[in-house]
This record gives sequence, C-alpha cells and structure tokens, in this order.
Amino acid sequence: MKLLLLAALVASVAGTPTIPQAAKAMYNPDLSEGDIKGIAGQEPGHERAAILGDQYLWSGGVVPYVFGSSVSSSEQSVILDGMADFHAKTCVRFQHRSGEADYIEIVTNDSGCWSYVGTIGGQQRVSLDTYGCIYIGTVIHELMHAIGFYHEHTRNDRDDYVVIDFSHVISGMESNFNKDTYWRYVGEDYNYASIMHYGTYAFSDNWGIDATIVPTDPNVILTEAYDKYEMAQSDANEINTLYSC
Ligand SMILES: *[C@@H]1O[C@H](CO)[C@@H](O)[C@H](O)[C@H]1NC(C)=O
Ligand SMILES: [Zn+2]
Repeated sequence: MKLLLLAALVASVAGTPTIPQAAKAMYNPDLSEGDIKGIAGQEPGHERAAILGDQYLWSGGVVPYVFGSSVSSSEQSVILDGMADFHAKTCVRFQHRSGEADYIEIVTNDSGCWSYVGTIGGQQRVSLDTYGCIYIGTVIHELMHAIGFYHEHTRNDRDDYVVIDFSHVISGMESNFNKDTYWRYVGEDYNYASIMHYGTYAFSDNWGIDATIVPTDPNVILTEAYDKYEMAQSDANEINTLYSC
C-alpha cells in the first residue's frame, strides 16, 4: 500500500496526466455522472442514497442475469466474483435467468462501464467493456447502480464531506457533480470508502495532478471504484435496508 502511494506520488510529481483506461471507461462524456445510462422513473424527492419508488427495485431482491455472447470465461469469473460480494454481505441475489421478464444482460463489447439505476423493466444492459471495466470493484459499482443506487459523492449531504473544485473539472462536465434529488435515505452516513464514491481526479482536466473531489478531512485519500476490492460495510447495510432484509 505504501509503495503504491509512493508510486502515485512520484507519478504526480513527474506530471504526466495520463488518464488510466479504467478511469476513462467510467467517465463517459455522454452519460449522466460518467456511467449512468438512465434512471428508472424520476420522481422528485429530497432524500438521498437510493432510488425512490419500490417499483424500481428487483422483485424479492433477485436479479436475473445473462451474459452477452462476447463475455469470455475469464471475464465471467471476475463478474461472478463481484456478484459473490453481494451474496456474502447482502440479501440480494444474482441468479442466472430462467425466463424472467426483467433481467440484466451483461455485455463486454459495448463502449465504457455503465448501468441504469434501478430496474427499468424487460431486458436492461450493464456494460463492462473489455477495455477498462473488468475489475471486481468496477463490477460491484455497476451492479450496485443496477439494483438502485446512485453515487456517494452526489448525495445531498456531500458538501459536508467533500469540496468539488470546479476550476479543474473538464469544461462542460460540471453537471456530473450535480446533487441528486430523486433519492431516499437508506440509513448510513456518508462514506468516503463507499464503492459508489469516485476518486479524487474524477473529470479532472489534469488527471493525477489537480484534484476535483477534495475531502474536507485531509487524512482521507479517495480511490476509484476499480481500485477497490469489495463494497464497504455501509454499502451492504444500505442494500439490506433498501431490500428490507
Ligand atoms: C454485443 O453483443 C451482443 C450479444 O451479446 C449483441 O447483441 C450486440 O449487438 C453486440 N454489440 C456490439 C456493439 O457489437
Ligand atoms: Zn457509477
């Protein structure tokens, strides 16, 4: 860990603002907040964390899935490892589809990492691009969108925890930091370590050098979803609250 931090520091001092492919894949300029393809229903509310409206949750906490034909067996094993984190900590179950009308199709041949938030009805895709998305943290992040969660850093209370430095946000990308207004609160405080929290250079015009998400607590180091290996316990608690188990 120390070595990694040192390497990151050296890279930032050396000043080569190369955006890693794993980050590029999550920061799609044409999608909402980088990786949200759409939101099931849009009912105004004033709470936070998860989607409003029980009709947008997966019935019984069961998420039927299929793999698109492009998904290789090694990709499948990373994706199944991501699902296993849900199975270990929450009551949500990803089950291979057997005829259910509502299900996710996981594809690796589309561009970028993205998902819808909540169930939209019928087939919905979760994109885990071969180039940049086959990381367990990214898998868990996108699947957590699919079951109804937004980003941690767009919670209504985020200004108490992070400062968004808009002076370094890529011009035109500012709306990716809009706070969401269609949320319900599912019982956990803001958590910097949430799998739904982006890293410190999200949408930065100078990746690796100029932070865009600056924690108010100077001891906190934010990491990208792809650098995480499991969901936070607070994420699991929120899932279990949302799905009443
Ligand atoms: C990706 O694969 C799916 C089948 O799983 C196919 O329907 C789709 O057209 C492919 N998309 C691209 C962009 O090739
Ligand atoms: Zn996301």
